[in-house]
Amino acid sequence: MEEAKKQNTSVIAFDALDYNTICSCIRGAEIARRPVIIMLYPGMREIISFRSFAAIVKDLAQKASVPVALHLDHCTNYELLMQAIEDGFTSVMADGSTLSYEDNVRFTRSVVQAAREKGVDVEGELGHVGQVAAGDVYTDERGFTLPEEAASFAEETGVTSLAVAIGSCHGMYKAEPKLALDRLQEIRRATGVPLVLHGGSGIPEDQLEKAFRMGINKFNVATEYVILYEQLQHTFYTEQYGKVSPFEKYKVVRSGLEEYIARKLQLCTIKV
Ligand code: 13P
Repeated sequence: MEEAKKQNTSVIAFDALDYNTICSCIRGAEIARRPVIIMLYPGMREIISFRSFAAIVKDLAQKASVPVALHLDHCTNYELLMQAIEDGFTSVMADGSTLSYEDNVRFTRSVVQAAREKGVDVEGELGHVGQVAAGDVYTDERGFTLPEEAASFAEETGVTSLAVAIGSCHGMYKAEPKLALDRLQEIRRATGVPLVLHGGSGIPEDQLEKAFRMGINKFNVATEYVILYEQLQHTFYTEQYGKVSPFEKYKVVRSGLEEYIARKLQLCTIKV
């Protein structure tokens, strides 16, 4: 992220949930010759444990020809964050964005203090990036991150990156989002900490290119990737089921995922 900041671009982070989605992120990054961040939603630990996820990413990262980072996405629970660090995560998101400013600072700072001893990075969030499915409003600038608060939050907590609310939302948008790029520039001027854009699925590329140039240094994508995974499996079952060996499925599915990752990563201008 620091390198992305220097080069006025963004690294791209994808939420994965199993071996296929992890592998395809790395292979896609190798094809694109770009760095990649692989994230896990804490809720997914019902499918894959923190320890297993971290071990797989680290094992494949060591063999990869591009930089690969590991990150725990949106975690609101202190004990769970400590568990993830214990289980091998080298970067975590302490999400106190639904708390008051003061409580968010307290929560995030406590995670930073514990994580720092272990050399683990901590992403915070200020201003809440909601969910389209929950009907959260993301177009009202009264909910956007305030530049002066972003500066004091970064200072008071010691976060290594900060997620900001500038008009994006998690899930598939019902209407095209419009990022508040002026607000982003004000936040960038107010604080030097790398900024993170959540709710990446469905944001038009021209807006992303501008946002990356204006201060976003980490960009999160989940829904698009997971839906594609579903679609590729669905296509395999409807078109190939019974015609080819079931052991072929992972090849077809992974190659579709890799292609998507390699294409998406073109938005990042760091070539490795
Ligand atoms: P989307 O699911 O909208 O791509 O958002 C991903 C995200 O921000 C994960 O933290």
